[in-house]
Amino acid sequence: MDLDIKKIKEQAIKEIEGVKNSEEWEQIKNKYFSRKSGELAKLLKDIKDVSEDLRPKFGAMANQVKDELEKALDIKMSELKYKGNGNLERDFIDVTLNVEKYKLGHLHPVTQISMELEDIFKSMGFMILDGPELESDYYNFEALNIPSWHPARDTQDTFYIDPLTSSGHDPQLLRTHTSPVQVRAMQKYGAPLRCVVPGRVFRNEATDASHEHTFYQLEGLMIDKDISISNLIAVMKELLSGIFKTEVKVRLRPGYFPFVEPGFELDIQCLICGGKGCPVCKQSGWVELLPCGLVHPNVLKYGGIDPKKYSGFAFGLGLTRLVMMKYKIDDIRLLQSGDLRFLNQF
Ligand code: PHE
Repeated sequence: MDLDIKKIKEQAIKEIEGVKNSEEWEQIKNKYFSRKSGELAKLLKDIKDVSEDLRPKFGAMANQVKDELEKALDIKMSELKYKGNGNLERDFIDVTLNVEKYKLGHLHPVTQISMELEDIFKSMGFMILDGPELESDYYNFEALNIPSWHPARDTQDTFYIDPLTSSGHDPQLLRTHTSPVQVRAMQKYGAPLRCVVPGRVFRNEATDASHEHTFYQLEGLMIDKDISISNLIAVMKELLSGIFKTEVKVRLRPGYFPFVEPGFELDIQCLICGGKGCPVCKQSGWVELLPCGLVHPNVLKYGGIDPKKYSGFAFGLGLTRLVMMKYKIDDIRLLQSGDLRFLNQF
């Protein structure tokens, strides 16, 4: 009996090793494991006839052989699969099947429009600059002709990181506009100068459909000899036809900003309602798109440029608002929401 078990095992192992394809594998498996006629089933039957005291020993041996053979069969199957001789039907890979593609992200609509604008300005010889979002009181206000007592500060409340001036250093704040880079650029590059500054800005706002605490602007600055309003208007026209690729109605109103003189508000007719009135244009039919003006002599001086020799224009384009106009988005809060149902549309 003892020998029978060993013989069966040796024979089985030899046969399993010789298997060359899945049909043979199936045959061998049946030969040994078939419930009715398999060699192992027969063996177990024989064990019943063994004397009671030897039965546990043979039972254990038979079980061990069963385990070993199962393992050998498993190994053989993986070997066959590896060599490609396995069950072709089961292992078939349809290489023409459409697998789910990796979902690639894309640029945020504000980034897209910013890059588009950068291209337009680069083509007109403007540099693309950036500046710190955590800005000093000096660059954000003081150097832009907005001293600490100036009421214009009230229209640009922001988040103060360190409002204490007692320590003697310049208070730090989240910049309320990209204009501080005007003076930074003048100090760094001098005149003549042509640059645009796209970037993120912050205000302490009560948020609604057209106000956010965080939004994007693109500052523009051109300084040279004899720069006048007509240069400003020419550049603005080039810009608007570049962005909207269609005729957009605009109007110029006088506007007040301490760092320009004279100052203007350039409005475009609301592209969402076509001028009829909606929440975005506050029912007026017009959207403030672009404040602009000629750089105030004091600001040129802060930038180290002689206002008697040079003049310039500056504008501050609301990038976020521009995106809203371009894609007819009626709630500014969507842009910062990170909501993929919204973002995937761009
Ligand atoms: N910095 C101003 C604002 O954010 C906009 C502006 C820029 C106005 C340049 C005039 C010239 O409100």
